[in-house]
Amino acid sequence: MASVDVIAATKSFGKTPVLRGVDLAIADGEFLALLGPSGCGKTTLLRLIAGLERLGSGEIRIDGEVMEGPGRFVDPEDRHLGMVFQSYALWPHMSVRRNVEFGLAMRGVARPERRQRVASALAAVGLTGLEDRRPQALSGGQRQRAALARCIALSPRIILLDEPLANLDAHLRHAMQQEFRRLHRETGTTFVFVTHDQSEAMALADRVAVMDKGQLQQVGTPEALYAEPATAMVAAFVGKGALLPVAVEGRSQGGSLSITLAGHRIESRGDAAPGPGLLCLRPDDVVIVPANFPGSLPARVAEVSYRGGHYAVDLVLPALPGHRIEASMRHAPQPGEAVSLQFEGGWVLAAPDAVRAEAA
Ligand SMILES: Nc1ncnc2c1ncn2[C@@H]1O[C@H](COP(=O)(O)OP(=O)(O)OP(=O)(O)O)[C@@H](O)[C@H]1O
Ligand SMILES: [Mg+2]
Repeated sequence: MASVDVIAATKSFGKTPVLRGVDLAIADGEFLALLGPSGCGKTTLLRLIAGLERLGSGEIRIDGEVMEGPGRFVDPEDRHLGMVFQSYALWPHMSVRRNVEFGLAMRGVARPERRQRVASALAAVGLTGLEDRRPQALSGGQRQRAALARCIALSPRIILLDEPLANLDAHLRHAMQQEFRRLHRETGTTFVFVTHDQSEAMALADRVAVMDKGQLQQVGTPEALYAEPATAMVAAFVGKGALLPVAVEGRSQGGSLSITLAGHRIESRGDAAPGPGLLCLRPDDVVIVPANFPGSLPARVAEVSYRGGHYAVDLVLPALPGHRIEASMRHAPQPGEAVSLQFEGGWVLAAPDAVRAEAA
Protein backbone atom coordinates (compact mmCIF):
# COMPACT_ATOMS: atom_id res chain seq x y z
CA MET A 1 0.00 0.00 0.00
CA ALA A 2 1.38 3.34 -0.98
CA SER A 3 0.63 6.77 -2.37
CA VAL A 4 1.96 8.07 -5.68
CA ASP A 5 2.86 11.66 -6.53
CA VAL A 6 3.59 12.66 -10.08
CA ILE A 7 4.87 16.23 -10.11
CA ALA A 8 5.24 18.38 -13.25
CA ALA A 9 6.12 15.30 -15.27
CA THR A 10 7.14 15.72 -18.88
CA LYS A 11 8.20 13.12 -21.40
CA SER A 12 9.09 13.24 -25.07
CA PHE A 13 9.92 10.52 -27.55
CA GLY A 14 12.42 12.14 -29.86
CA LYS A 15 11.03 15.59 -30.54
CA THR A 16 7.43 14.61 -29.88
CA PRO A 17 6.16 15.69 -26.46
CA VAL A 18 3.98 12.93 -25.02
CA LEU A 19 3.45 14.20 -21.47
CA ARG A 20 3.24 17.97 -21.02
CA GLY A 21 3.43 18.71 -17.32
CA VAL A 22 1.35 16.13 -15.48
CA ASP A 23 0.54 16.60 -11.79
CA LEU A 24 -1.27 13.71 -10.19
CA ALA A 25 -1.57 12.69 -6.55
CA ILE A 26 -2.88 9.17 -5.94
CA ALA A 27 -3.83 8.38 -2.36
CA ASP A 28 -2.73 5.30 -0.45
CA GLY A 29 -5.28 2.53 -1.07
CA GLU A 30 -7.11 4.42 -3.77
CA PHE A 31 -8.53 2.88 -6.95
CA LEU A 32 -7.70 5.42 -9.64
CA ALA A 33 -8.65 5.03 -13.29
CA LEU A 34 -6.58 6.80 -15.92
CA LEU A 35 -8.93 7.49 -18.79
CA GLY A 36 -8.31 9.00 -22.20
CA PRO A 37 -8.36 8.43 -25.94
CA SER A 38 -5.79 6.31 -27.73
CA GLY A 39 -2.36 7.90 -27.87
CA CYS A 40 -2.96 10.47 -25.11
CA GLY A 41 -0.09 9.12 -22.97
CA LYS A 42 -1.73 6.71 -20.49
CA THR A 43 0.69 3.82 -20.96
CA THR A 44 3.62 6.21 -20.91
CA LEU A 45 2.52 7.64 -17.55
CA LEU A 46 2.07 4.13 -16.11
CA ARG A 47 5.50 3.05 -17.36
CA LEU A 48 7.05 6.17 -15.84
CA ILE A 49 5.54 5.35 -12.45
CA ALA A 50 6.90 1.81 -12.79
CA GLY A 51 10.35 3.09 -13.76
CA LEU A 52 10.22 1.47 -17.20
CA GLU A 53 10.67 4.88 -18.86
CA ARG A 54 12.73 7.89 -17.80
CA LEU A 55 11.17 11.31 -17.22
CA GLY A 56 12.09 14.32 -19.33
CA SER A 57 11.65 16.54 -16.28
CA GLY A 58 9.64 16.51 -13.09
CA GLU A 59 9.49 14.06 -10.24
CA ILE A 60 7.83 10.81 -9.19
CA ARG A 61 7.43 9.88 -5.55
CA ILE A 62 6.05 6.76 -3.95
CA ASP A 63 5.00 7.04 -0.34
CA GLY A 64 6.75 10.39 -0.26
CA GLU A 65 10.08 8.91 -1.32
CA VAL A 66 11.59 10.22 -4.56
CA MET A 67 11.73 7.43 -7.16
CA GLU A 68 12.86 9.69 -9.95
CA GLY A 69 13.86 13.32 -9.91
CA PRO A 70 16.90 15.47 -10.47
CA GLY A 71 19.92 13.24 -9.83
CA ARG A 72 17.92 10.26 -8.64
CA PHE A 73 16.46 7.12 -10.22
CA VAL A 74 15.23 4.04 -8.36
CA ASP A 75 15.27 0.87 -10.46
CA PRO A 76 11.90 -0.71 -11.28
CA GLU A 77 12.55 -3.83 -9.18
CA ASP A 78 13.25 -1.69 -6.13
CA ARG A 79 9.93 0.15 -6.38
CA HIS A 80 7.89 -2.89 -5.33
CA LEU A 81 5.11 -2.31 -7.81
CA GLY A 82 3.13 -4.86 -9.76
CA MET A 83 2.18 -4.34 -13.37
CA VAL A 84 -0.39 -6.21 -15.44
CA PHE A 85 -0.19 -5.72 -19.18
CA GLN A 86 -2.93 -5.91 -21.75
CA SER A 87 -1.11 -8.78 -23.45
CA TYR A 88 -0.84 -10.72 -20.11
CA ALA A 89 2.83 -11.54 -20.89
CA LEU A 90 2.64 -15.05 -19.39
CA TRP A 91 5.46 -17.52 -20.08
CA PRO A 92 4.02 -20.00 -22.61
CA HIS A 93 6.33 -22.87 -21.63
CA MET A 94 5.51 -22.69 -17.92
CA SER A 95 2.46 -23.94 -16.04
CA VAL A 96 0.19 -21.47 -14.31
CA ARG A 97 1.85 -22.39 -11.01
CA ARG A 98 5.34 -21.74 -12.36
CA ASN A 99 4.24 -18.48 -13.94
CA VAL A 100 2.95 -17.22 -10.63
CA GLU A 101 5.88 -18.65 -8.66
CA PHE A 102 8.62 -17.35 -10.92
CA GLY A 103 8.82 -13.81 -9.56
CA LEU A 104 8.88 -15.11 -5.99
CA ALA A 105 11.72 -17.50 -6.81
CA MET A 106 13.63 -14.63 -8.41
CA ARG A 107 13.29 -12.73 -5.16
CA GLY A 108 14.67 -15.65 -3.21
CA VAL A 109 11.47 -16.50 -1.35
CA ALA A 110 11.89 -19.99 0.16
CA ARG A 111 9.94 -22.85 -1.40
CA PRO A 112 7.35 -23.52 1.34
CA GLU A 113 6.41 -19.86 1.54
CA ARG A 114 6.41 -19.65 -2.26
CA ARG A 115 3.94 -22.53 -2.55
CA GLN A 116 1.69 -20.98 0.04
CA ARG A 117 1.71 -17.55 -1.63
CA VAL A 118 1.05 -19.07 -5.06
CA ALA A 119 -1.88 -21.03 -3.67
CA SER A 120 -3.42 -18.00 -2.01
CA ALA A 121 -2.92 -15.77 -5.09
CA LEU A 122 -4.55 -18.38 -7.33
CA ALA A 123 -7.39 -18.78 -4.85
CA ALA A 124 -7.87 -15.00 -4.78
CA VAL A 125 -8.45 -14.90 -8.54
CA GLY A 126 -10.47 -18.13 -8.67
CA LEU A 127 -7.93 -20.30 -10.50
CA THR A 128 -7.48 -23.04 -7.91
CA GLY A 129 -7.38 -26.39 -9.71
CA LEU A 130 -5.80 -25.03 -12.90
CA GLU A 131 -2.24 -24.86 -11.51
CA ASP A 132 -0.81 -27.38 -13.97
CA ARG A 133 -2.27 -25.91 -17.14
CA ARG A 134 -0.18 -24.03 -19.65
CA PRO A 135 -1.38 -20.53 -20.61
CA GLN A 136 -2.40 -21.77 -24.09
CA ALA A 137 -4.88 -24.12 -22.43
CA LEU A 138 -6.63 -21.24 -20.63
CA SER A 139 -9.44 -18.98 -21.82
CA GLY A 140 -8.80 -15.25 -22.20
CA GLY A 141 -10.39 -14.51 -18.86
CA GLN A 142 -8.38 -17.26 -17.14
CA ARG A 143 -5.14 -15.91 -18.63
CA GLN A 144 -6.05 -12.49 -17.32
CA ARG A 145 -6.60 -14.02 -13.88
CA ALA A 146 -3.26 -15.82 -14.05
CA ALA A 147 -1.50 -12.56 -14.90
CA LEU A 148 -3.26 -10.91 -11.99
CA ALA A 149 -2.31 -13.78 -9.64
CA ARG A 150 1.32 -13.43 -10.68
CA CYS A 151 1.14 -9.75 -9.81
CA ILE A 152 -0.57 -10.07 -6.41
CA ALA A 153 1.62 -13.02 -5.30
CA LEU A 154 4.47 -10.51 -5.04
CA SER A 155 2.43 -8.36 -2.61
CA PRO A 156 3.23 -5.14 -4.48
CA ARG A 157 2.50 -1.85 -2.75
CA ILE A 158 0.81 -0.54 -5.92
CA ILE A 159 -0.81 -2.45 -8.79
CA LEU A 160 -0.56 -0.81 -12.21
CA LEU A 161 -2.97 -2.22 -14.78
CA ASP A 162 -2.73 -1.29 -18.45
CA GLU A 163 -6.07 -1.97 -20.17
CA PRO A 164 -6.19 -5.43 -18.59
CA LEU A 165 -9.67 -6.21 -19.89
CA ALA A 166 -9.35 -4.92 -23.44
CA ASN A 167 -9.12 -8.42 -24.94
CA LEU A 168 -12.17 -9.81 -23.22
CA ASP A 169 -15.77 -9.90 -24.42
CA ALA A 170 -18.38 -7.69 -22.77
CA HIS A 171 -19.69 -10.36 -20.36
CA LEU A 172 -16.29 -11.41 -19.15
CA ARG A 173 -15.20 -7.80 -18.82
CA HIS A 174 -18.08 -7.15 -16.52
CA ALA A 175 -17.33 -10.21 -14.40
CA MET A 176 -13.64 -9.26 -14.19
CA GLN A 177 -14.52 -5.69 -13.23
CA GLN A 178 -16.32 -7.09 -10.19
CA GLU A 179 -13.23 -9.18 -9.42
CA PHE A 180 -10.98 -6.14 -9.55
CA ARG A 181 -13.27 -4.28 -7.17
CA ARG A 182 -13.30 -7.22 -4.79
CA LEU A 183 -9.52 -7.69 -4.93
CA HIS A 184 -9.04 -4.01 -4.31
CA ARG A 185 -11.33 -4.16 -1.27
CA GLU A 186 -9.70 -7.27 0.10
CA THR A 187 -6.05 -6.31 -0.42
CA GLY A 188 -6.31 -2.58 0.26
CA THR A 189 -3.60 -2.10 -2.37
CA THR A 190 -3.43 1.12 -4.41
CA PHE A 191 -4.74 0.38 -7.93
CA VAL A 192 -3.97 2.48 -11.01
CA PHE A 193 -6.09 1.21 -13.87
CA VAL A 194 -5.62 2.47 -17.43
CA THR A 195 -8.57 2.33 -19.79
CA HIS A 196 -10.02 4.21 -22.73
CA ASP A 197 -13.51 2.99 -21.84
CA GLN A 198 -15.33 5.65 -19.84
CA SER A 199 -18.02 3.33 -18.52
CA GLU A 200 -15.35 0.93 -17.25
CA ALA A 201 -13.50 3.78 -15.53
CA MET A 202 -16.69 5.06 -13.91
CA ALA A 203 -17.81 1.60 -12.78
CA LEU A 204 -14.47 0.72 -11.18
CA ALA A 205 -12.70 3.68 -9.76
CA ASP A 206 -12.92 5.87 -6.66
CA ARG A 207 -11.56 8.69 -8.81
CA VAL A 208 -10.95 9.05 -12.52
CA ALA A 209 -8.12 11.07 -14.06
CA VAL A 210 -9.06 12.16 -17.58
CA MET A 211 -6.15 12.70 -19.91
CA ASP A 212 -5.95 14.26 -23.35
CA LYS A 213 -2.91 14.96 -25.52
CA GLY A 214 -0.42 14.46 -22.73
CA GLN A 215 -2.22 16.59 -20.16
CA LEU A 216 -4.64 15.89 -17.36
CA GLN A 217 -7.99 17.50 -18.00
CA GLN A 218 -9.69 16.72 -14.70
CA VAL A 219 -9.33 14.40 -11.73
CA GLY A 220 -12.44 13.63 -9.74
CA THR A 221 -15.06 11.16 -8.66
CA PRO A 222 -17.10 9.59 -11.47
CA GLU A 223 -20.09 11.62 -10.26
CA ALA A 224 -18.16 14.91 -10.37
CA LEU A 225 -16.80 14.25 -13.86
CA TYR A 226 -20.27 13.47 -15.12
CA ALA A 227 -22.11 16.31 -13.41
CA GLU A 228 -19.44 19.01 -13.47
CA PRO A 229 -17.00 18.45 -16.33
CA ALA A 230 -14.14 20.95 -16.20
CA THR A 231 -13.46 21.06 -19.92
CA ALA A 232 -15.28 20.47 -23.19
CA MET A 233 -13.13 17.39 -23.76
CA VAL A 234 -14.28 15.83 -20.47
CA ALA A 235 -17.90 16.76 -21.16
CA ALA A 236 -17.79 15.09 -24.55
CA PHE A 237 -15.70 12.07 -23.53
CA VAL A 238 -17.46 11.19 -20.26
CA GLY A 239 -21.13 10.43 -20.76
CA LYS A 240 -21.14 11.85 -24.27
CA GLY A 241 -22.66 15.20 -23.34
CA ALA A 242 -23.97 17.55 -26.01
CA LEU A 243 -22.14 20.90 -25.98
CA LEU A 244 -24.09 23.93 -27.09
CA PRO A 245 -22.94 27.54 -27.44
CA VAL A 246 -24.63 29.83 -24.93
CA ALA A 247 -24.25 33.36 -23.61
CA VAL A 248 -23.69 33.52 -19.85
CA GLU A 249 -25.62 36.51 -18.51
CA GLY A 250 -24.71 36.28 -14.85
CA ARG A 251 -25.19 34.46 -11.61
CA SER A 252 -28.52 34.64 -9.86
CA GLN A 253 -28.94 35.00 -6.11
CA GLY A 254 -29.54 31.30 -5.62
CA GLY A 255 -26.11 30.63 -7.20
CA SER A 256 -27.37 29.29 -10.52
CA LEU A 257 -26.27 30.78 -13.83
CA SER A 258 -28.60 32.67 -16.14
CA ILE A 259 -27.80 31.79 -19.73
CA THR A 260 -29.34 32.20 -23.14
CA LEU A 261 -29.41 29.29 -25.53
CA ALA A 262 -30.53 30.27 -29.04
CA GLY A 263 -32.37 33.27 -27.61
CA HIS A 264 -34.06 31.13 -24.97
CA ARG A 265 -33.36 32.08 -21.37
CA ILE A 266 -32.64 29.26 -18.93
CA GLU A 267 -31.13 28.71 -15.52
CA SER A 268 -28.35 26.19 -15.11
CA ARG A 269 -25.41 25.42 -12.89
CA GLY A 270 -21.84 25.91 -13.91
CA ASP A 271 -18.45 27.49 -13.61
CA ALA A 272 -18.28 30.30 -16.15
CA ALA A 273 -17.98 34.09 -16.07
CA PRO A 274 -20.38 36.25 -18.08
CA GLY A 275 -19.64 35.95 -21.80
CA PRO A 276 -19.54 33.09 -24.27
CA GLY A 277 -20.07 29.68 -22.69
CA LEU A 278 -20.80 26.08 -23.49
CA LEU A 279 -23.77 24.24 -22.04
CA CYS A 280 -23.18 20.52 -21.43
CA LEU A 281 -26.44 18.61 -21.60
CA ARG A 282 -26.88 14.92 -20.77
CA PRO A 283 -29.95 12.97 -21.88
CA ASP A 284 -31.42 13.20 -18.39
CA ASP A 285 -31.17 17.02 -18.42
CA VAL A 286 -33.57 17.26 -21.37
CA VAL A 287 -37.36 17.11 -21.11
CA ILE A 288 -39.41 16.79 -24.29
CA VAL A 289 -42.69 18.74 -24.18
CA PRO A 290 -45.35 19.31 -26.88
CA ALA A 291 -44.43 21.69 -29.70
CA ASN A 292 -44.88 25.39 -28.84
CA PHE A 293 -45.20 24.69 -25.13
CA PRO A 294 -44.74 28.06 -23.36
CA GLY A 295 -41.18 28.71 -22.21
CA SER A 296 -39.64 25.93 -24.28
CA LEU A 297 -37.19 25.70 -27.16
CA PRO A 298 -38.39 24.35 -30.54
CA ALA A 299 -36.68 21.14 -31.75
CA ARG A 300 -37.24 18.35 -34.19
CA VAL A 301 -36.84 14.58 -33.68
CA ALA A 302 -34.02 13.36 -35.92
CA GLU A 303 -33.65 9.72 -34.90
CA VAL A 304 -35.08 7.31 -32.38
CA SER A 305 -33.40 4.12 -31.18
CA TYR A 306 -34.57 1.61 -28.60
CA ARG A 307 -32.15 1.11 -25.69
CA GLY A 308 -34.04 -1.43 -23.62
CA GLY A 309 -36.61 0.18 -21.32
CA HIS A 310 -36.28 3.59 -22.95
CA TYR A 311 -35.70 5.27 -26.28
CA ALA A 312 -32.68 7.42 -27.12
CA VAL A 313 -34.09 10.39 -29.01
CA ASP A 314 -31.73 12.42 -31.16
CA LEU A 315 -32.92 16.00 -31.56
CA VAL A 316 -31.91 18.89 -33.80
CA LEU A 317 -32.49 22.56 -32.99
CA PRO A 318 -33.62 24.70 -35.94
CA ALA A 319 -32.08 27.71 -34.16
CA LEU A 320 -28.68 26.00 -33.83
CA PRO A 321 -27.86 24.15 -37.05
CA GLY A 322 -25.16 21.51 -36.74
CA HIS A 323 -25.86 20.69 -33.08
CA ARG A 324 -27.63 17.64 -31.71
CA ILE A 325 -29.09 16.85 -28.32
CA GLU A 326 -29.95 13.43 -26.97
CA ALA A 327 -32.94 12.87 -24.73
CA SER A 328 -34.33 9.74 -23.14
CA MET A 329 -38.03 8.84 -23.40
CA ARG A 330 -40.24 5.96 -22.34
CA HIS A 331 -42.42 6.32 -25.43
CA ALA A 332 -41.07 6.64 -28.93
CA PRO A 333 -41.78 9.90 -30.75
CA GLN A 334 -41.91 9.92 -34.57
CA PRO A 335 -38.79 10.85 -36.51
CA GLY A 336 -39.42 14.27 -38.07
CA GLU A 337 -41.90 15.22 -35.34
CA ALA A 338 -41.81 18.82 -34.11
CA VAL A 339 -41.40 19.01 -30.35
CA SER A 340 -40.16 21.49 -27.76
CA LEU A 341 -37.50 21.18 -25.10
CA GLN A 342 -37.13 22.21 -21.53
CA PHE A 343 -33.99 21.74 -19.48
CA GLU A 344 -33.51 20.49 -15.96
CA GLY A 345 -29.89 20.65 -15.00
CA GLY A 346 -26.95 20.91 -17.34
CA TRP A 347 -23.53 22.36 -16.63
CA VAL A 348 -22.03 25.53 -18.09
CA LEU A 349 -18.36 25.82 -19.02
CA ALA A 350 -16.49 28.89 -20.11
CA ALA A 351 -15.76 28.89 -23.84
CA PRO A 352 -13.12 28.02 -24.91
CA ASP A 353 -12.46 25.30 -22.41
CA ALA A 354 -9.25 26.52 -20.83
CA VAL A 355 -10.62 26.91 -17.31
CA ARG A 356 -10.78 24.14 -14.78
CA ALA A 357 -13.63 23.71 -12.37
CA GLU A 358 -12.60 24.24 -8.79
CA ALA A 359 -11.85 20.95 -7.16
CA ALA A 360 -15.09 19.64 -5.72
N1 LIG B 1 8.71 4.08 -27.45
C1 LIG B 1 8.09 5.06 -28.14
N2 LIG B 1 8.72 5.73 -29.11
C2 LIG B 1 8.13 6.74 -29.77
N3 LIG B 1 6.87 7.14 -29.55
C3 LIG B 1 6.18 6.51 -28.60
C4 LIG B 1 6.74 5.43 -27.85
N4 LIG B 1 5.81 5.00 -26.98
C5 LIG B 1 4.71 5.77 -27.17
N5 LIG B 1 4.93 6.68 -28.14
C6 LIG B 1 3.98 7.70 -28.59
O1 LIG B 1 3.57 8.43 -27.47
C7 LIG B 1 2.19 8.73 -27.51
C8 LIG B 1 1.51 8.21 -26.26
O2 LIG B 1 1.59 6.80 -26.27
P1 LIG B 1 0.94 5.91 -25.13
O3 LIG B 1 1.27 4.51 -25.45
O4 LIG B 1 1.34 6.43 -23.81
O5 LIG B 1 -0.61 6.21 -25.38
P2 LIG B 1 -1.91 5.52 -24.72
O6 LIG B 1 -2.70 6.62 -24.13
O7 LIG B 1 -1.49 4.41 -23.83
O8 LIG B 1 -2.67 4.97 -25.99
P3 LIG B 1 -3.52 3.58 -26.19
O9 LIG B 1 -4.87 3.84 -25.56
O10 LIG B 1 -3.62 3.47 -27.68
O11 LIG B 1 -2.76 2.48 -25.56
C9 LIG B 1 1.68 8.13 -28.80
O12 LIG B 1 1.62 9.14 -29.76
C10 LIG B 1 2.71 7.10 -29.15
O13 LIG B 1 2.80 6.93 -30.54
MG1 LIG C 1 -1.71 2.36 -23.92
